[in-house]
Amino acid sequence: MIGSRARFPKPTEAYELLKAFGTNIIATEGDEWKHQRKIVAPAFSERNNRLVWDETVHILEDVFQNEWGDKEVVDVKHIMDLTVPITLLVIGVAGFGRRISWNEDKIAPPGHSMTFKDALYEVSHRLWMKVVFPDWMLGLGTPTMRKFLRANRELERYLAEMVEARRSAEVKEERYDLFSSLLDANEEELDSGAKLSNSALIGNVFLFLVAGYETTAHTLAYAFILLALHQEEQEAFYQNIKSVLPADRKPTYEDFNSLSYSLAVMNETLRWFPPVVFIPKVNVEDTTFTLTSPTTGEKRTVPVPAGTYCSICTPALHHNPRYWDAPEAFRPARFLGSYNRDAFLPFSAGARGCIGRGFAETEGVAVLTMIVVRYRVEVKEEARFAGETFEQRRARLLKSQHSLTVYPERAPLVFKRR
Ligand code: HEM
Repeated sequence: MIGSRARFPKPTEAYELLKAFGTNIIATEGDEWKHQRKIVAPAFSERNNRLVWDETVHILEDVFQNEWGDKEVVDVKHIMDLTVPITLLVIGVAGFGRRISWNEDKIAPPGHSMTFKDALYEVSHRLWMKVVFPDWMLGLGTPTMRKFLRANRELERYLAEMVEARRSAEVKEERYDLFSSLLDANEEELDSGAKLSNSALIGNVFLFLVAGYETTAHTLAYAFILLALHQEEQEAFYQNIKSVLPADRKPTYEDFNSLSYSLAVMNETLRWFPPVVFIPKVNVEDTTFTLTSPTTGEKRTVPVPAGTYCSICTPALHHNPRYWDAPEAFRPARFLGSYNRDAFLPFSAGARGCIGRGFAETEGVAVLTMIVVRYRVEVKEEARFAGETFEQRRARLLKSQHSLTVYPERAPLVFKRR
């Protein structure tokens, strides 16, 4: 299904929500998708990955110096309070080309009623409102609806200003954020003569925000919870980072390949909690699937008529004991050796696979490495949960909700300086 795009295309109606800001690559199929992907793909370059790395390191240094300071123990009420702002700042700078600091602009710049950071946050969190309500209804609705509408308009104005600034700049700065790369692609005549329409330009930039920020924020949140629950795994991970990085040297992009354990922690987290739990496809021709009974091994052929929705359920695939040893165990090291790549699809795969995988992996490895090398992560002890068993604690911290992607409901953790 993953390998055959023509026989199992995307049911584009399942992506209506993501078209709210304009056409984009995830919500299209066929020639339109090919056209957009060809223009969008070069933005996800090695240079962009390097920018993601450098900016992630910069953001964490800002957190360590200016937020956490010299505290020996940092209490984080809910791990999402840490991972959501980090990923927002990363997509702000490496996606949209705007550097925002952790505590910055509480005051909106002249001509705006909201800061860029607040507009970005507000829009990405309540995107569903744009689909459910027309603008006029949002304008007449509750304060939350009106704030959401204002955030949309603010974000559009910020983007328009950025387009204008870049177009009118006499000397173009060399910039490798996704937005600048898309703008350049839109201005220059590409070899194919292809360009993105303005709607597709804005639609894709919004898509990067939606696709690229929540997924990574939620994955990192689960990674810290799993590391806090599994201290022995965290210790193995820490020892590995120490063996790769000389003492007190901050990790650079060149270290990425040596930090394979950090990527293994991210992968094991994605195996457990793939943010996209269903990957929708539709079958265009009559076909059959051969299924094997997990208990008897008996094979059965199931007819699948054209037009059938065939979703891939990633959590089921990632926990299938046929492909994974002890699937219920948290064991990052399983990703250090060879593993069944067809049974690991958090980013989907093939032509319609995630175009931002390198972006997400770069950011994830940088965040996990930077934090775990400095801090030991533990579950916060709370009097009301004293006496709970490990299983109860695990269930409590991993209890999840679902917005566009799954996320932990409430997970208080502490970060102790090593
Ligand atoms: C842990 C992080 C991420 C995960 C788990 C993830 C997962 C996925 C999955 C499963 C798909 C296929 C969806 C489908 O077929 O319905 C996808 C597509 C996509 N992702 Fe990601 N993603 C992540 C990060 C990112 C980032 C950081 C960006 C951009 C900055 C991004 C941009 C996209 C785009 C544009 C597509 C559509 C590709 C196409 O249809 O050709 N993703 N992602």
